[in-house]
Amino acid sequence: MNPKPTELPRLTVIGTGYLGATHAVCMAALGYEVLGVDVDEKKIAKLASGEVPFFEPGLPELLKKALDSGRLRFGTSFEEAAAFGDVHFICVGTPQQPGSDAADLTYVESAVRELAPHLERRALVVGKSTVPVGTAYRLTHLVQELAPAGTEVELAWNPEFLREGFAVEDTMRPDRLVFGVATDWANERLRAAFAPILDLGTPVVRTDLATAELVKVAANSFLATKISYINAMAEVCEAVGADIKDLADSLALDDRIGGKFLRPGLGFGGGCLPKDIRAFAHRAEEIGVGQAVSFLREVDAINRRRRARTVDLVRELLGGRLAGANIAAWGAAFKPNSDDIRDAPALDVARTMHGLGGYVRVFDPAALDNARRAYPELRYGDSALDVARDADIVVLLTEWAEFREVDPAALGEVVRHKRIVDGRHALDADAWRAAGWEYRALGRN
Ligand code: UDX
Repeated sequence: MNPKPTELPRLTVIGTGYLGATHAVCMAALGYEVLGVDVDEKKIAKLASGEVPFFEPGLPELLKKALDSGRLRFGTSFEEAAAFGDVHFICVGTPQQPGSDAADLTYVESAVRELAPHLERRALVVGKSTVPVGTAYRLTHLVQELAPAGTEVELAWNPEFLREGFAVEDTMRPDRLVFGVATDWANERLRAAFAPILDLGTPVVRTDLATAELVKVAANSFLATKISYINAMAEVCEAVGADIKDLADSLALDDRIGGKFLRPGLGFGGGCLPKDIRAFAHRAEEIGVGQAVSFLREVDAINRRRRARTVDLVRELLGGRLAGANIAAWGAAFKPNSDDIRDAPALDVARTMHGLGGYVRVFDPAALDNARRAYPELRYGDSALDVARDADIVVLLTEWAEFREVDPAALGEVVRHKRIVDGRHALDADAWRAAGWEYRALGRN
């Protein structure tokens, strides 16, 4: 039996970045009383005033609604969080450590260390962050040592699979929930904390802490592998003059394989896939099973090669020299419908071309401010057409819908040379060629 609304546990969300802010807003929208906590006062002030500090379709509207309902609040006090909450979600980041492939657990550790000393009654702490397997076990002991309520406080792991750009949908209607728990009580508390989502018939996997931690890295490793697999096939196609697009389309029609995450091109980036596969390989080595996932090093290497090969293709089309060429770079975000530039393949390519002496001008519909801040050495423009003015070559690096919709004939009027490299296999090659463009994409003739 799921609880009545009056029996819903009160939730806190520690860490209001991408994952946490979305989780806090969505849970409040689903009827829970939620307190979002972060050490970053500026971020908290923004959220409390109804402003989402990052680009996510649908989230600003939902934040306003949740704030208006009175069920969602934000603050910086862990003491208040401990007093308020029955279930505490840890949603802080686990970036890659500088100079290592390992995950940096500083933020997770400090969230637990800040919260636990205030936990004076029975409560459940739920980790959502992506962590190396074994972390939850260690944190259980830490929480219970530090909390005045001792072993009355339990720890569970509930990995999060949300995709940027679809974060609201993925949170409100996930395709599955994974509850890593040590006791029935923890399981019941989690069921109460997700009651409206369970009511939709969402499948739940109840498992142990270690498995729950692993599910997340296993899922991201699989997705990364699928992308690198098709990009490895693209390399083979390049060598023999075969067509990766037709090859991928043919594989996709086999429903055992499926077409999702089988789009060839510049490869994966972002705040999750690249660092998660590296941290997983690193952790596997630590625990003596490095060989089992050594293929992830290859997955990473294939992915990095895509960036270098894209630059090679641009160079080839320019007749061997990037230096002095006017280059229009379309896209900065690591994927469309996002302003996230973490490990963005697009900016990596733009910076390399700039480093080789190209006169690179970048446009992105959402990530320009972030890109400007991170890479002030690059030049930026106001629109796809603007950066293409007098270009010797146009390079599509992030497959935003508005780039697909550009009319090749109209663009042909503003550029110096009608040359385009489609880094994401996003354009209709025939239409561009028919408009007089030299069209090239990796793995295609
Ligand atoms: C990913 C996982 O999908 C999500 O479940 C997890 O919670 C976080 O990491 P996200 O980083 O938002 O989500 O992006 P995703 O949509 O998975 O794309 C990752 C990268 O792969 C992007 O750079 C995208 O351009 C690239 N990609 C994706 C391809 O190159 N080809 C594809 O076929 C699919």
